[in-house]
Amino acid sequence: MTTVEKHEFPMTRTCPFAPPPAYEEIREEDPVSKVGLPDGGWAWVVTRHEDVRTVLNDRRFSADRQHPDFPQLVKGGFRRKGDERTMITMDAPEHGPARKAVLGEFTVRRMEALRPRIQEIVDGQIDALLAGPKPGDLVEALSLPVPSLVICEMLGVPYADHGFFQEHTAKLIKRATPPEERRAAFDTIRGYMEDLIAKKEENPSDDLLGRQIVKLREDGTYRRASLAATGFLLLVAGHETTANMISLSTVAFLRNPEQLAAIKADPGKTLDAVEEMLRYWTIVDAATARLCVEDVEVGGQLIKAGEGVLALGYAANRDPRAFENADELDIERGARHHVAFGFGPHQCLGQNLARMELQIVFDTLFRRIPTLALGADVDDLPFKDDANIYGLYRLPVTW
Ligand code: HEM
Repeated sequence: MTTVEKHEFPMTRTCPFAPPPAYEEIREEDPVSKVGLPDGGWAWVVTRHEDVRTVLNDRRFSADRQHPDFPQLVKGGFRRKGDERTMITMDAPEHGPARKAVLGEFTVRRMEALRPRIQEIVDGQIDALLAGPKPGDLVEALSLPVPSLVICEMLGVPYADHGFFQEHTAKLIKRATPPEERRAAFDTIRGYMEDLIAKKEENPSDDLLGRQIVKLREDGTYRRASLAATGFLLLVAGHETTANMISLSTVAFLRNPEQLAAIKADPGKTLDAVEEMLRYWTIVDAATARLCVEDVEVGGQLIKAGEGVLALGYAANRDPRAFENADELDIERGARHHVAFGFGPHQCLGQNLARMELQIVFDTLFRRIPTLALGADVDDLPFKDDANIYGLYRLPVTW
């Protein structure tokens, strides 16, 4: 960190329910400012809602992580090259076709067709929780298995392997994982995906990966390594994110009984509550890093080509200019303009799926276990302060 930077990224939280206090300080005093990065470099942080949307929707900010100047958020992070790359790190004109190749698998209509199966999965997990010891761990019983089972079934990945890929995903997400271990975890999951896809090549199954093999072969663009990278992205993005949202939102509902009562009385409000939870927690605020490739002025600050930018979604989602009483949880506020799923061309591909999973989980969990309560003091809950995706390692609950 040079003397210019007042803050070092990642910044520290003082309360598990709020962003690091530095976010507010920066947003209110110097909304586009320089921060030091773990590898000794620096980047601009953009903190106001309007500015974050500007950055994420402007092609002069690249998502291509191959570039040597792309901001690195962990020490010794590595740059994915060639077929290791996926849509999330591509710019136009490459990004559009890569996203479009799988977009049809995530439409609202497709998701609605999955609804009965997701409901069945949620009910099965709640049955198991109720049959188990008290207190039970909600993370193990519900938060992780629901999105993992769903994404495994969608992709055509055997759920029996979940222990294996969850263990390696955890290493990827933890900030302190040593570089060589991070690379090894990445190669292990990628190797697993390649083997799985190789087996599907002979007789492609009727699941996302099988259908992709058929479709990409027809287009003449099929490459096993590249599909393995997509499968990897969907597997990781598909379970770690939603899982943490289930745990964190359960805590938030239990701490706000009047808002919980409102969705119990009228499940028509659950989707609004889901939007507010997404805003309130913004579990992946730093994933939206970019590299400026052409000089741009943002929020009155000139950002030059070659400089890194972190569009901090969590700071934006607590910006009082966009959300009144932004630090309060209010399921009635109409939070749909939040940026918890990003914004612009890279906006989350799995958002319809995530919304539906969260909606089904909350409607079912609180209806079936009306006496659900925390099984530990909030102060003792193990929040994931050390990971790139915020969440909870465990959540003891009782009833
Ligand atoms: C992109 C958040 C669930 C797949 C993103 C981005 C964010 C995000 C912030 C933007 C990254 C950027 O701009 O660089 C979340 C949250 C989720 C969630 C908060 C759950 C609550 C999912 C699920 C899937 C998924 C369930 C898939 C099954 C993706 C993919 C992208 C993406 C493929 C990249 C899209 C692109 O580059 O065009 N997500 N996500 N996400 N997400 Fe999600």
